[in-house]
This record gives sequence, structure tokens and C-alpha cells, in this order.
Amino acid sequence: MSNVLPENPLSYNNPQAIITDAWKVLDTNYTGVYHMPHCDHYKGLFGWDSPMHAIGTRHDRPAQAAMELTHLFRGQWRDGMIPNIQFPARGELLHGLLNASGLLARGNAPRGIRTSGITQPPLEAEAVWLVGKKLGTEDRRSFWGKTVPWLVRYHEWLYAARCEKKDGIIEIVHPWESGMDNTPPIIEYMRTLTWGKTADIVRSMEKVITHSRKDLRHVDDGERSSAEEAALQTIAMVSIMRNRYDARRLQENHPLHVADIGFNSIFARANTVLELLAEEIGLVLADDLKDSMHKTRQNFSSLRDPRTGLYFSRDRKGELIPISTIASLLPLYSGALSVQDTKTLANHLANPKSFWRPYGVPTVPVDSPFFDEKRYWSGGVWGNMEWMLTTGLARSGCNELAEGMRKTILSTNPAFYEYHSARTGEGYGVRPFSWSASVRLDLAHRPNDTSWRD
Ligand code: GLC
Repeated sequence: MSNVLPENPLSYNNPQAIITDAWKVLDTNYTGVYHMPHCDHYKGLFGWDSPMHAIGTRHDRPAQAAMELTHLFRGQWRDGMIPNIQFPARGELLHGLLNASGLLARGNAPRGIRTSGITQPPLEAEAVWLVGKKLGTEDRRSFWGKTVPWLVRYHEWLYAARCEKKDGIIEIVHPWESGMDNTPPIIEYMRTLTWGKTADIVRSMEKVITHSRKDLRHVDDGERSSAEEAALQTIAMVSIMRNRYDARRLQENHPLHVADIGFNSIFARANTVLELLAEEIGLVLADDLKDSMHKTRQNFSSLRDPRTGLYFSRDRKGELIPISTIASLLPLYSGALSVQDTKTLANHLANPKSFWRPYGVPTVPVDSPFFDEKRYWSGGVWGNMEWMLTTGLARSGCNELAEGMRKTILSTNPAFYEYHSARTGEGYGVRPFSWSASVRLDLAHRPNDTSWRD
């Protein structure tokens, strides 16, 4: 599939035009209840996509944004886990079946909805907070009153199921849980792990896997995970399913446990917002949860590399994986950094040789041996990441950088591709993609606002 350059350039100075175009995209991908990330390629409801959609749509249609979030929580498991995918009521049979979480998780998965059995970065609290603030007093009270306990259960689950070291830092068990499916640090780490017999079986089926890959139906294979990366993702998924999505079994039998820096940055921010929300509705958080949240803040800097000041993901042995990606900068969004660390990371971000490129911030710095500008999360510019950096910078008082980013975001990717090149602006992946629109919708609605105060 060829990639076309913008036929309809966005204008930073014309936010109204951006708002109109973004809504066309969101309406195209709307099911009547939630926004699909893309109407052919991704028909399900995704765990960190829907919060991003709600953040954009809340300005004009707050009730619709609240409904999308409420729908997201319908997929929550009994133990509190929020799945990365809720499959649509009809269709997606093969993928629903392959996940088969309802059968394997024995009563833990919700009835009547097909969901995956793994999670995604916890952006829900941020969205619940921002959407609630756009609702009228009564609606807000009822929305927060209903959703905040669900958020609490999710955060409690993360600490109970995914914090093996009890240090407040969350470990994920699949690269899809990072949301950055083929991000180099996790893929490189996976290559070093022992996966047992399953791996040989999956590898011998590489051709079959490639044939059944839904993600290659709509885009060029150079824009998706490579065959080897997809095999690793499948191997990890089979291992999780063999362990019936059970936290204890996973800790005993599953080799991949990685403290992903992106996930933990989003989680640290989500904890802060959850505390604000609890205060708003007069909910007293359990002491255990408060202790865990305290540990997350206290130990966040254990993910910092003292040599470079960048933050990295940590492997199960406790070693940092020193491969820099945009997630190394996401602590700027966490709210957990000292002034000095913020400055160091902001300097890394502003470096034109690595991250600060004419068409945006790439997911892997352009001077990295892992940079591959077209290949999915190995180098493209993704709107959700840029939104988190922009708002995080603004919250930390780095207003000039935040405004620079806002300007770039509103001047790029006018056709709302899934992601685009940091070097040329060329769009990649599927289009029109919902969060590429909702991020721009949000920023276009806040023309002179760089404070983003809570
Ligand atoms: C891809 C992305 C993931 C996203 C999903 C739906 O799998 O890697 O982050 O949630 O698509 O848009």
C-alpha cells in the first residue's frame, strides 16, 4: 500500500479546521458506543486507545466521552484487571478464539463479553479525571462515583499481580502490554530468555502465523512487527495462555517480566490522579494501596540510568536494559521527577540529533542502531506519546518545549495516519486512526493553554 503525503495540510493557526477534520475521523470510526482505533483494521475497544479518544472528544461531547470510558470498564475482570482488547460483539472470531480468555481464566473474565487476558498502559485515570471535569456537577458526581472504585480495583490488581518485587514498580508480561508492540528493549530482552519447547513449535509455524496476521491485511509488512518479532510475541502469548492468565502461575512459569518504563511512567501519573479523584468524591483509599503508591514514587528513580540521566526498563534480575526509546522520556509525564531530572530529560528530548526532529519525536531516536523509521514502534512518530510528553512538559513548567511540541503536532499528520515519519512527515500504518485525531482535537481545543494544571 502506498503512503500518500498530506493532501490537506493542517494549520497550527487554524484550530477550527483541525477540529472539524478530527471529528470526521472520529465519527467514521465510531460504533455508537466507542471509537474503534480504525474501522476495518482494529474493530475492538482498546485499553489505552479509548482513554485517549475520550480525552479528545470530551471538549465537544463530554457525555459521549464518559460513555466510552464506562464501556471500557465493562471489560474489567473480577480480579480488577482491565484487558487491552474487548472484541466486538460480532466478528473477529479467530482473534477472540485465540485469546479465549473466558475459557482459560475460569470465571475471572466477565460474562457476555469477549476480552483479551492481558492489559495495557493505565491511562484510564487521566481520562476519567479530564472527562469528569467537562461534565455538569450532577453528571460528574455520578460518573466519578461509579468509575473511581473501578480504577481503584485496577490499581490494586496491578500491585497484587504485577509487582513481584513489592517495590511499587509494575512488571508487564507481554510486549503488547507496553502498548509499543515491537519496542526494541523488550524485543531484545525477549531474545535472551529461555522459552522452552513452545518456542520451537511456534517458530516452525512461522509461515502459518504470517498468513493469519490480521495486521498485514491493511498495511505494508515493513510497517509492522517483523516475522521474527511476531513469532516472539506469539511465543509469549502462548506461554501466558498456558498459564491461564493466572498471576501466580505466570510468576512461577513465564519468563518475561519487565518493569517497562513507559507503563510505569503512565502508572505513576495515574496514581496521582487517582488520589485527586478519591479526594473529590470523599473516598478513603486503603492503607495498603497508599503504601504501594508511596513506594512507586519513592522507587521510581531506580529506573534512572545515572550515566545518561535517561530512564530505562528493568529486567527481572533488576538490571536496566540500556536501549533508549521515547519511553525513556515518558517520566516527563509521570509527575515523579525532581526538578534536576526533569531538566536532564528535557535536554535529551530537545536534542536534534536524536529526538527533536522536524516532524515530531520518534519512538526510537534517529541516532540509535535500532531506529527503523517505518517499522511500527521502532521509529515512527505516534500521537499518544507526543500528547503525554506535551502535557507532562507543561505540567513541569517546561512551557517553551511544550508549545514547540503542540505546534509540531498540530502541523503534522493531517491525514491522521496511525503514525508518521519524523524525518519526512510521510504517514504510515492505517488511516484514519482515531487517536491521531483525538490528540489533535484536544490540543486544538486549548490554543493558549500551556499550563495543564490539575
Ligand atoms: C496496536 C498498537 C497498540 C494499540 C492498538 C490499537 O496494537 O501497538 O498500542 O493500542 O494497535 O490501536
